[in-house]
Amino acid sequence: MRTVNVRASREYNVLIGKDAVTALGSETAKLCPAALKALIVSETNVAPLYLDKVRNSLEEAGLNVIDYVFEAGEQNKNINEIAGMWNRMAEAGFTRTDLVIGLGGGVTTDMAGFAASTFLRGINVIQIPTSLLAMVDASVGGKTGIDIPKGKNQVGAFWQPLLVVEDISFLKTLPDEVFTEGMGEVIKHAFIMDTELFDKLQNAGGNIRDDEDLLEEIVYMNVADKARVVNEDENDNGLRQTLNFGHTAGHVIERDSGYTKPHGICVAKGMGIIIDACVRAGTLDENEAKKMKDLLKLYKLPTEDEITPEQIVSGAMNDKKKRGDTLSVILVNKIGKAEIRKMTAEEFLKFLSV
Ligand code: GLY
Repeated sequence: MRTVNVRASREYNVLIGKDAVTALGSETAKLCPAALKALIVSETNVAPLYLDKVRNSLEEAGLNVIDYVFEAGEQNKNINEIAGMWNRMAEAGFTRTDLVIGLGGGVTTDMAGFAASTFLRGINVIQIPTSLLAMVDASVGGKTGIDIPKGKNQVGAFWQPLLVVEDISFLKTLPDEVFTEGMGEVIKHAFIMDTELFDKLQNAGGNIRDDEDLLEEIVYMNVADKARVVNEDENDNGLRQTLNFGHTAGHVIERDSGYTKPHGICVAKGMGIIIDACVRAGTLDENEAKKMKDLLKLYKLPTEDEITPEQIVSGAMNDKKKRGDTLSVILVNKIGKAEIRKMTAEEFLKFLSV
């Protein structure tokens, strides 16, 4: 088992390995000796596969376990489901020393974290991500929240977990397209900050799924990258914004699809659009750009979309990444090196336009 230690406003471990979930009960008892009850938050695709395993592990540690299972899908990442979680805990008599367990992909870990951050003004959450995307990104770093009609993740809180348990064996049951989507965030880390990861992905030739040792190593490298960023800028005022590479355009594409297009796919498209714009603006060498787009294609990710620069800019101006009347646009100057550039709407439009 590998461990990444996150040192944000709270210090915690991310445990990564095959069968890592078997450590859940003993770790929970060690970290939360006063907890009597746990609410497992999960969704309809994941619960039939792993809920019993997680419940058993917590019950063996002496906890009284209840669950809240919502219908899978980004369209359910809303306040009604959070209210359902609050009510379930209130009816079961949860106190400040009890805890929430998020078991699922990014939608689940974001919502479980948000419910925990708000119930009784904040109780502990342990995250058990089951998708590649949630393992390498969403479950680490304490961003929690829900969507509202005006945009994705517009309401939420920074709420660091007590522990993150990443069981690599859980990735075996992930549908291919969901695994591919997670590769969007993996490749993003390679682009913005990790040339070693870039080379490893290139050498793996488009398949990291069948080799569990390689997969574990790649998840570990990504979590270590994410932890480095969060340790330096937990509240997203500087370095952490580089994790938004491809997300400004990606979020607009995602929202305009009514959240039917997967997040990681939209991020890949958004990265392709920005890579092309960087080449045109002269901030990225053409050969580097080709290597980057080839890596996305190697992992079956798209690099373009029919969205227009005008649509991206108008959508981005409603995004939470906007500060005042400028946007922080993330560029990549070479593989492994990102830059944050402040742009007005006019400057961003010019940057995106052919
Ligand atoms: N997913 C981007 C971040 O955690 O900041």
